[in-house]
Amino acid sequence: MKAVVCTEYGGPEKLQILDLPVPELKPGHVRLDLVARGVAFPDTLVIQGKYQIQPEVPFVPGGEVAGVVTEVADDVAGISVGDEVLAGIGHGGWTEQAVTEASRCVPVPDGMDMTDAAGYLMNHGTSYYALKVRGQLQPGETLLVTGAAGGVGLAAVQLGKLMGARVIAAASSDEKLALCKEHGADELINYSDGELKEKVKAVTGGKGADVIYDPVGGDLFDQCLRCINWNGRLLIIGFADGRIPTAPANLPLLKGCSLVGVFYGRFKTEEPEASAALTQELVDMYREGKVRPHISLKLPFTKAAEAVEIFNNRAVLGKIILTNES
Ligand SMILES: NC(=O)c1ccc[n+]([C@@H]2O[C@H](COP(=O)([O-])OP(=O)(O)OC[C@H]3O[C@@H](n4cnc5c(N)ncnc54)[C@H](OP(=O)(O)O)[C@@H]3O)[C@@H](O)[C@H]2O)c1
Repeated sequence: MKAVVCTEYGGPEKLQILDLPVPELKPGHVRLDLVARGVAFPDTLVIQGKYQIQPEVPFVPGGEVAGVVTEVADDVAGISVGDEVLAGIGHGGWTEQAVTEASRCVPVPDGMDMTDAAGYLMNHGTSYYALKVRGQLQPGETLLVTGAAGGVGLAAVQLGKLMGARVIAAASSDEKLALCKEHGADELINYSDGELKEKVKAVTGGKGADVIYDPVGGDLFDQCLRCINWNGRLLIIGFADGRIPTAPANLPLLKGCSLVGVFYGRFKTEEPEASAALTQELVDMYREGKVRPHISLKLPFTKAAEAVEIFNNRAVLGKIILTNES
């Protein structure tokens, strides 16, 4: 089968298109004919050898997939050949077939096309877990989202709005902010001049935001910690900026705020029942037409390197999907 293979850690130029044998089915696993694959920031870190959970080279990248079940191990129940499923599989998705644990598969709900299925749960799962469980976001509270037009950021804008918050979207360009407005943001802040803190204070009557969702880190995180309200929760999502910030401990003390870590992947393994309940809520929201992933670009999976390049250029809007079309 044709596959995108990372034979050496590095940038997208290191990815190769190779012919690989189909993976073997193992106990507890199912085989999928893949239809669509989401591309996420962690994929871009994995190919550089910079992620928390790192496969050895050579490997097929691609952590999010949607496909049709074509084979089921004898010891697996509750999933059948012909089922359409979506799954977070860690890596192994930028190819034609994948073998993955049956427990990772979620049935694709009626009315969800496979493109949306591949692009939904990573971003919306992360953001919903962050806002609902870790951030305890309440109706009427003010939510600030940095990197708000990116994958997890735009999901946070949508979900924050659905949860009844007043959403301040912050991003580096007016084009990105226009997209956030389309997805429900109430206030828009362009921080391309490096200024975030004063602008947040200006739209919150000097108080700062109650909940801050920060997937960017670096200097923006430093400013977030200085424009957070009393009893605020600063959600640490990621470090797209590249710099992992450090926080002076006097600031949470003075502001009575909390720094809250969010690791969706670990939540899924540590708390499978709670995670399954959140997934069900997200599936219901989709089915009820309340939320849709914003798919800005579809590319054939053999062009995965182009998708990685777009991430590296800080130019992703919502979600990029890799398809089977050549
Ligand atoms: N904690 C978790 O469980 C979890 C789950 C999924 C993802 N994440 C993390 O969340 C972060 C964002 O992921 P994503 O999929 O939303 O990525 P994305 O679509 O590329 O969005 C990241 C945003 O960060 C901003 N940014 C600032 N400096 C950047 C730089 N040097 N390169 C790229 N982007 C930069 C960009 O917005 P502006 O241009 O508007 O600043 C961009 O839209 C990543 O660190 C990822 O690892 C964490």
